[in-house]
Amino acid sequence: MVQRQTISEVVSKKQRGERIVMLTAYDYPMAVLLDRAGVDIVLVGDSLANVALGLESTTQIGMEGMLHHAKAVVRGVDQAIVIADMPFEAYQVDRQNAVFHARRFLFEAGCQGIKVEWFSGCLEVVGDLRAASIPVMGHVGLTPQTATDMKVQGREEAQAKKILSQARALEAAGCFAVVLECIPQDLAHQVTESLNIPTIGIGAGPHCDGQVLVTNDMLGLNDRKVPKFVRQYGNLGQIIVETVRKYKDDVGQGLFPADSETFH
Ligand code: KIV
Repeated sequence: MVQRQTISEVVSKKQRGERIVMLTAYDYPMAVLLDRAGVDIVLVGDSLANVALGLESTTQIGMEGMLHHAKAVVRGVDQAIVIADMPFEAYQVDRQNAVFHARRFLFEAGCQGIKVEWFSGCLEVVGDLRAASIPVMGHVGLTPQTATDMKVQGREEAQAKKILSQARALEAAGCFAVVLECIPQDLAHQVTESLNIPTIGIGAGPHCDGQVLVTNDMLGLNDRKVPKFVRQYGNLGQIIVETVRKYKDDVGQGLFPADSETFH
């Protein structure tokens, strides 16, 4: 049987100068493939609201939706650690019950930890989660659950200082890693050098301790316009359309099923 990595093993990659590889998954088949490819962390991101459910905002997915997908992902993963995004309502709205909601990801779904985005009450919530021994990944920079403008964050000095101090505060509060989303590379470099815990960048340049992308974006499985920081490693959407067209033509011409695909 394959041995699952532990959070501390993944975190220790920073000290060894090894990059951490994280990708999102929302269902069982993708989770199996990412795990087989050897990623370190599978994130059940609330981006599933946008890329898998066709919703406008990540705030439109709640606990039951996230848990449903987290359970499917966990079933497909043997070696990576699985982290689930806490949905907006579960810690920014229902703050008092954040620990209760987070525990459901660990004990009902089988995730190894949860992720929270920075907001005004973030440190208190992380404090409560850590007091309950729940592994927490932080997320600063562009935080889609509360962002009004999906643009690069931290270009001005005051904002950059804020992002640096938020990342430091999350480390002090006990987070095991921090996602840096959509910030200039120099700021990401500075944050990465000033933390002992790993930074995982998305649109934050090459100096982070690891990288994450939304899997559907990097595989070309979306019809949405992808941000500048996404490298499209494949165009599976096109492959699927071409494959389905072949099936359609074969059915239309009576070429499928063939004799060998038929019971006698
Ligand atoms: O929801 C998500 O997919 C994320 C990543 C972009 C980090 O939070």
